[in-house]
Amino acid sequence: MRSKIVAGNWKMNKNLSETKDLLSEILDKLPDTEAEVIVAPTFVNLSEAAHILQTSEIKVAAQNMHYARNGAFTGEISADMLLNINVDTVIIGHSERRAYFGETDELLAKKVKAALENKMRVIFCFGEELDERKAGNHFNVVESQLKNGLFELPAEAWQHIVLAYEPVWAIGTGETASPEQAQEMHAFIRKTITEAYDASIADEVSILYGGSVKPSNAGEIFSKSDVDGGLIGGAALVADDFIAIVKAI
Ligand code: 13P
Repeated sequence: MRSKIVAGNWKMNKNLSETKDLLSEILDKLPDTEAEVIVAPTFVNLSEAAHILQTSEIKVAAQNMHYARNGAFTGEISADMLLNINVDTVIIGHSERRAYFGETDELLAKKVKAALENKMRVIFCFGEELDERKAGNHFNVVESQLKNGLFELPAEAWQHIVLAYEPVWAIGTGETASPEQAQEMHAFIRKTITEAYDASIADEVSILYGGSVKPSNAGEIFSKSDVDGGLIGGAALVADDFIAIVKAI
């Protein structure tokens, strides 16, 4: 079901004591909101975060997972391990996983499938790089990432998918896509899903924007009709900024 979501992707930041401090400040300052608020701390602190937040409205997500059920995959984490600590949402396909850890569309499709088979919810990330946008190729890139990552899924699976459009050139750079650029791409994403499935699936999926969202630009980006919220990096590490972004929705 389409809903407003603000999710903080903490990436490889915050040790255990910093995680506890940040969560406690976020909990103290969290306003009443209809938006769903999600935080994604690093694996080693997920269990503690899930425990701290279990009686709150804030949900916890993992930043990645392996597709296999278990086995000889040194350093990896399975869906079962996440579910067992009450984490049922996972970010898959972040551009940093694609760029620095060689995650391909094919691998990501396997991860998405595994997460859904385990009844998890997936926040699926995708977005073009700067040279692809400059070459006017951004729509093709996004279409192919969606197609390769998700379009083998049956229609019913889409109720467990959240999309996060994150243009790589806007991540951690301070340069944000303009609200118009975000809206244009989000509308294109819904059109692409309509063509591959149907309009009801396209209308019902939540599409988040990510890339240098901060308190000063969140309101304008979130005001666009096809933008359902944000996936926040740097600003999610500062309680006041994250809260201001939640308020902006
Ligand atoms: P920044 O908000 O730091 O640009 O990061 C966005 C992001 O990658 C969220 O997943």
